[in-house]
Amino acid sequence: MFKDIVKINNLKNFAEKEVTIGGWVYHSRPSGKLIFIVIRDGSGLCQCVIEKGKISEELFEKIKRLGAESSVTFKGTVRKDERSVGGYELLVSGAEVLCESVDYPITPKQHGIDFLLKNRHLHLRSQRQWCIGKIRHTVINAIRQFFNENDFTLVDSPILTGIVGEEAGSLFNVDYFEMPAFLSQTGQLHLECAAMSYGRVYCFGPTFRAEKSKTRRHLTEFWMVEPEVAFVDLPGLLEIAENFVSFIVKRVLEDNEAELKTLGADIEALKKIVPPFYRLTYTQAHEILTSQKTQDFMAAQLADFKSQKQEIENKIAALEAEAKGQIKQWRQDKIAAELIDLRSDLDEIETKIENNPKHAKLASEFKWGEDLGGSDETIISLMHDKPIFVTHYPREAKAFYMKQDENPKVVQNFDMLAPAGFGEIIGGSMREDSYEKLLARINEHGYKLENYQWYLDLRRYGSVPHGGFGLGVERTLAWITGEKHIRQCIAFPRMMDKILI
Ligand code: 4AD
Ligand code: MG
Repeated sequence: MFKDIVKINNLKNFAEKEVTIGGWVYHSRPSGKLIFIVIRDGSGLCQCVIEKGKISEELFEKIKRLGAESSVTFKGTVRKDERSVGGYELLVSGAEVLCESVDYPITPKQHGIDFLLKNRHLHLRSQRQWCIGKIRHTVINAIRQFFNENDFTLVDSPILTGIVGEEAGSLFNVDYFEMPAFLSQTGQLHLECAAMSYGRVYCFGPTFRAEKSKTRRHLTEFWMVEPEVAFVDLPGLLEIAENFVSFIVKRVLEDNEAELKTLGADIEALKKIVPPFYRLTYTQAHEILTSQKTQDFMAAQLADFKSQKQEIENKIAALEAEAKGQIKQWRQDKIAAELIDLRSDLDEIETKIENNPKHAKLASEFKWGEDLGGSDETIISLMHDKPIFVTHYPREAKAFYMKQDENPKVVQNFDMLAPAGFGEIIGGSMREDSYEKLLARINEHGYKLENYQWYLDLRRYGSVPHGGFGLGVERTLAWITGEKHIRQCIAFPRMMDKILI
C-alpha cells in the first residue's frame, strides 16, 4: 500500500508529476482558503499547499486543525519552487490523516535539557538530533570503510568478559552463573589475540564504564572502534590514527555539509583536519602547562571571556528594554526565546570565568607523573588548530599493558586530543610484548595471574611488537558537530542517572 510513496529528498525526479508522500506535520499555517503545511519524512522537508475545494470540506477542516507531529499521507503535483524549503512544493489533491497528534509536548519554545532527555523518545525527531544522527551514520560508515580499505579484518570482541581491560574502578559487574564477570571496557585484549592471527584487525561495538562522573565527556555506554596491528611501532600507529581521523572528517564534509551548517559547526576549522597532526611528548606537555606562556594564554582567555560576557549583558539589556515597549505579540515571543538563549550563554560564560583561574592554577601546579586532567587537556587543545598527539606518559599513570619505553619511566602510548578545547578522542599504545615485563605489571596491579595466562601466552608463542588504539564515536561526533555534551551524540544516552528510555 505504501510502496509508491516517494521520499521528499527524491522529489526532484518528479517535477510536474503526481506523487504521494508520507510523513509528520512539522509546521502548519492556515491562511483563508489555503493551508501551508510543512511535512518532514525523515529524508527532508516539503511545503504542501492545500487549496479549499481540492479535497473534501471535512478533511480540509481536519487538516487545518492538525497538531505538530500528526502523521499523514498527501497526494499531489510536485512543483519546483526555489523559495520553498527543500526547493519543491506539493500541490495537494488528496490526503489521509493516519494519526492526529494533540498537544505534542515539545514545542518551538525552549525546553531545558532535563525535559528533553525525559522526552528523548520524541526529541529524536527534532532537527538538531536528526542532523547529529545523520552525521553519526556517516562517521560509522567512514570508520568501517577506512579499515576495510586498509586491509584490516573485522573481529567481534566479546561484551561479557572475565578480565579487567582498563581500570578495575569502572567495571559493571554481571551476574554470570556465579563466576566473576563484567561488561567489556575494551575489546583490546581479545583483539591482540586476533592480531596474531590476521595481522591487522579491528573491533567496533558498545563499551561499558561505570563512570561516576557526570561530565560532558562521559557516558556509561559508548561506542568504541579499536584497531590492532602486528609489526608496527609508535610512529606507525600515529600515522594510522591521523589518516583515520582525517578520513572521517573528510567523509562528513562531503556527505553532511547541510547538516553541519544547520548545527552551526565550524566547517572551515574541519577543512584544516589533514595530516600531519601535532606531536608532543607528555614531558613537553608538562613543560607547556607549567610555563609562563600558559599563564599568559589563560589571562588572555579570561579577558576575552569577560568582554564576551559584557556583550551578552548588553544584548540582554537591549532586548529587555524593547520587551517593555509597545510591540507585537510575535516580536514578544521572539524576544522571549532569544532571552532564554542569551541567558544560557551568559551562564556558560560565567562558568568559564569562574573556572579559568582554577584551571590556570591546576596547570601551574601540574606535577610530572600525574595523568593529564580534563582541564589540562582543554588548555593544550585550545592552543592548537589541529588534533594533537600527546605521547610517552609516565608509566605509573597508565594501564598495565602499555609497552615500556627505552626510558623506563614512560610508556609508548598516546592520546589524541581534538583541537579547539575539545580534548581526548583517542587513547592508544604499543603493547608490552616482553613476557617478563608484562608478568611484572600484572603482579604490580594485583590482578589474578590465572585470569591472564591466555594474554601472557601471546608473549610466549611468537610475540611481536604490536599496538593499537580506541576512538570514541560520541566524543568524535561531539567534536565534529560542535555539540557541547556527548549525550546528544547517541540516540539513547546512558549516564549515571539515566537508563529509562
Ligand atoms: O583511552 P581509553 O580508555 O582506551 C582504551 O580503552 C584502550 N583499550 C583502547 C585501545 O588501545 N584499543 O578509551 C578510548 C577512547 C577515549 O579516547 C574516548 O574517546 C572514549 O574511548 N571513551 C569514552 N567515551 C565516552 N564515555 C566514556 N566514559 C569514555 N571512556 C573512553
Ligand atoms: Mg584514555
